[in-house]
Amino acid sequence: MKSIIFDVDTGIDDALAMAYALHSPELEILGFTTCFGNVAVEDATRNTLAVLEKLDRHIPVFSGAGQTLNRGEKKKYPKHVHGEDGLGNTLDFEWAPTLQASQGHAVDFIIEQVKSRPDEITIIAVGPLTNIALAIKKDPEIMSLVKEVIIMGGAVKVPGNVNPYAEANIISDPDAADLVLSSGVPVTLVGLDVTMQTCLPKSKLDEWSATGKESAQFLAEMTNYYMKAYDSSHPGLGGCALHDPLAVGVAIDSDFVSTESMNIKVVTEGEETGRTIGQPDSESRIRVCTDVDAARFVKHFLERVIRS
Ligand code: BDR
Ligand code: CA
Repeated sequence: MKSIIFDVDTGIDDALAMAYALHSPELEILGFTTCFGNVAVEDATRNTLAVLEKLDRHIPVFSGAGQTLNRGEKKKYPKHVHGEDGLGNTLDFEWAPTLQASQGHAVDFIIEQVKSRPDEITIIAVGPLTNIALAIKKDPEIMSLVKEVIIMGGAVKVPGNVNPYAEANIISDPDAADLVLSSGVPVTLVGLDVTMQTCLPKSKLDEWSATGKESAQFLAEMTNYYMKAYDSSHPGLGGCALHDPLAVGVAIDSDFVSTESMNIKVVTEGEETGRTIGQPDSESRIRVCTDVDAARFVKHFLERVIRS
């Protein structure tokens, strides 16, 4: 079993990734850490607690970075993709989770866990890399103690999704991404190169709703909102990409993807800010996912995301 710290900016595909991970016996989730990204950090924390509550799981959640490393607060959140609440407007305006966030900062939780269990902890990071960068800055020793960081982020051989160059998680804090990806920490980069090859078909949402289970209906309703955004940005796809769930898939079974060792340079200035430029290097500790067995992965995800 892999011991996981799961860093999220809970948004809709983050919620799907959480459900997939929580239903996977190969993963022991020690805690969730939250970051701004799809929503402000307070909302990311609330949404993470909401997903846990709906799935009836009690796992610690630590609030983390509310702003970028060097550029202040993120100016705009993608409400057209993830909704006003970040979960496709599934939460009533007044709704507050019964579960509470844990005391302490996400960055300290990451440092403490990695140091107390050398070479054992895998971090799955599916939001901006700010918490991981802050942890490395605060305690550089963790770089040699962490087992692996699996990152949903970047677009190495394909165009970005925010602009022709940049993927959303990387451009949300390019300096943090640059720091993490040049730190020497072992990384598997699960970028748009592979996540855009995956598709959750719309028809599955009716199956989830038909289970009559509240948690399945919650996931179906929010994913329906996400799919509407995909209908406008990717007409004809008939569903949505499974960005964050694929990072979980890679943690469960790395054979879902093929990888190439590369050095990654993150562009931090100018028009191409947020771009991830890959240079093959067999010595590099960054493995960039370049291909995915999408059919096998999507099947696996569907078998687990909804608990029967
Ligand atoms: C990534 O950006 C966010 O909107 C998603 O949650 C995912 O982590 C995809 O580019
Ligand atoms: Ca995310």
